[in-house]
Amino acid sequence: MAALTSAKGALLPSWARSSSSGHGGDLWRVLGKALATAGGGGGGGCSLLLPRRWQSSLPQLDHVADRSNEESGGEIDWDNLGFGLTPTDYMYVTRCSPEDRGDFPRGELCRYGNIELSPSSGVLNYAQGLFEGMKAYRRPDRAGYTLFRPEENARRMQRGAERMCMPAPSVEQFVHAVRQTVLANRRWVPPQGKGALYLRPLLVGSGPILGLAPAPEYTFLIYAAPVGNYFKEGLAPINLVVHDEFHRAMPGGTGGVKTIANYAPVLRAQMDAKSKGFTDVLYLDSVHKRYLEEVSSCNVFVVKGGVVATPDTRGTILPGITRKSVIELARDRGYKVEERLVSIDDLVAADEVFCTGTAVVVAPVSTVTYQGERYEFRTGPDTVSQELYTTLTSIQMGMAAEDSKGWTVAVE
Ligand code: COI
Repeated sequence: MAALTSAKGALLPSWARSSSSGHGGDLWRVLGKALATAGGGGGGGCSLLLPRRWQSSLPQLDHVADRSNEESGGEIDWDNLGFGLTPTDYMYVTRCSPEDRGDFPRGELCRYGNIELSPSSGVLNYAQGLFEGMKAYRRPDRAGYTLFRPEENARRMQRGAERMCMPAPSVEQFVHAVRQTVLANRRWVPPQGKGALYLRPLLVGSGPILGLAPAPEYTFLIYAAPVGNYFKEGLAPINLVVHDEFHRAMPGGTGGVKTIANYAPVLRAQMDAKSKGFTDVLYLDSVHKRYLEEVSSCNVFVVKGGVVATPDTRGTILPGITRKSVIELARDRGYKVEERLVSIDDLVAADEVFCTGTAVVVAPVSTVTYQGERYEFRTGPDTVSQELYTTLTSIQMGMAAEDSKGWTVAVE
């Protein structure tokens, strides 16, 4: 397959194939051994060079149709971007096979499109997969785009990969791949103030496995889509309902990593909530059914008397990058921020409630319904969530006078 990387000098990757910085080399060697000795558990171990015949295939690059230098995304209505999928031009792909021994080889950009997977791939059968969410904004004052703390996503993917027994790309590979994906899809980055190019890095067990064991091959893929606001409410406050029957995570489970397996289980509760007119679901812990965990797709904060509190991340809660950034920004602005157990009673008594996440950014919550009672919270001007939203987004969009935190990464 021809690679855009070789066709377009500007997109040439800088990291070397021989780099030893790839994450998971040791893990891979352990897995190789485990697979090789798993009696009946996989029909083939990592120690074997597996035939390429089952490996996934990708849409071929069409150089004639290369539009990555164009400035505009065609007929798209930039004023009405929601969080739907608008297919873009290119995706980045690399695969780690047994012979790569846990180091992902240099990847390629190829046309965005369907990929072929073995019916017995680890991800399809056993949900061996992780994802990330990131945004690239068009810079207001000069050419180019900004990414927000991309190395944090890379490190989170590495931690998740450890938990899910997968090799992961190095931080440098990950960030480089994200940059390439942004540049190749630059015409899909919305105009300033209209939204962002959402990047979706995926790490999945793409190799075939029948018995329960780690897959023998992994695919790291990044695709992109222009997005606006996540919730249908736009920037308006949202209405949540507490679910005390279904839980998102359990101690010792995978709530603290961004595995794909955490998301389908919330759909039942989410659909029920939507059918009753709520925006989304707020989950309680599965042991005491009393402490706040997360909303389906974001972290949650409460504010009482100027003190900001959010559930601490002890394994059942995703360590959100927006969450971490908002905590730091709130402390910088003089607020006391507590990471602790936050009970449903704390929530009921709160002045403000808000959610944070890459997709939702900082979303104010106007009501939470718990056991049939509807509790209302402050929203709008002069709220802590409004202040934090403005501070955060001005950094993310490259509008802050200077990024004194060093959180943004320029792509040009
Ligand atoms: C994100 O905020 O980027 C996420 O990954 C949440 C997703 C369910 C939209």
